[in-house]
Amino acid sequence: MRHLMNPLDLSVEELDQLLDLANDIEAHPSRYAHSCEGKKLATLFYEPSTRTRLSFEAAMLNLGGSVLGFSSADSSSAAKGESVSDTIRVISCYADICAMRHPKEGAPLVASMKSSIPVINAGDGGHQHPTQTLTDLLTIRSLKGRLGDFTIGLCGDLKFGRTVHSLIQALIRYQNVHFVLISPEELRLPDSIRDGVLRKNNQVFREEVRLEDAIPELDLLYMTRVQRERFFNEEDYIRMKDFYILDREKMKLAKEDMLVLHPLPRVNEISTEVDDDPRAVYFKQAQYGVYVRMALILTLLEVKVC
Ligand code: NCD
Repeated sequence: MRHLMNPLDLSVEELDQLLDLANDIEAHPSRYAHSCEGKKLATLFYEPSTRTRLSFEAAMLNLGGSVLGFSSADSSSAAKGESVSDTIRVISCYADICAMRHPKEGAPLVASMKSSIPVINAGDGGHQHPTQTLTDLLTIRSLKGRLGDFTIGLCGDLKFGRTVHSLIQALIRYQNVHFVLISPEELRLPDSIRDGVLRKNNQVFREEVRLEDAIPELDLLYMTRVQRERFFNEEDYIRMKDFYILDREKMKLAKEDMLVLHPLPRVNEISTEVDDDPRAVYFKQAQYGVYVRMALILTLLEVKVC
């Protein structure tokens, strides 16, 4: 039995197969419509979510399966003091696979050790978000035609943004990826990723504060919101929240084929006037998130569709 805690839990070959499967699902959805009949997905969300939880649920429903779960810690027995280890042992009796989001780093990993069903990390604190990374990789590969040979700018809250941490780890396995890390001083990438992942693997990267200085050379721009819920004080958040606003003017500085990604939710960091720009692909990205989660559920449940 396999779990997904970290994007590196899948080898590059397995990842390729999973993305191929997601593209096949996109092309032939009806072939997969009954493939998980009789199977249940539990979504255990101890932290708010719209896209991730609903895209997991939509994915399982599209496969003909059913879903159960909770969407906040308050509405689960966690409010009574139950541990994630106990919760997962019980959920293992009710469901065939589970997706867990938790504010504490490592909580899904702890759960997976006591689980008799596959556990998917749907985001743990500021740590990892592997299924967002699968979504990002599918979006890049489908719309750019390749994984590798590009310069990617990661912009915004690189300190607390777990989607960025997971995406960097996944991208260093491909050839010729150059990273431009765009953030205010206070929200720079943690040392564990800058030194422990980028430097350790001799990756080409540089850090910038101004988006305008980086944007002309980018093939991909990955925007992120400032992660309000991880700040210790509201004043710091207010000072940082509008540091970057991608608007039409800045888009004029970008290459004609640069793609703009965002894991969403967006707050102010991308002006809505950019939404109609053909280079803005963040809503398509949300659609790819459903296909890739369908592919992941099939893979972890070892369901073969002929
Ligand atoms: C991201 C997350 O939860 O980390 N959202 C998502 O899953 N699409 C990004 C965010 O909340 O900023």
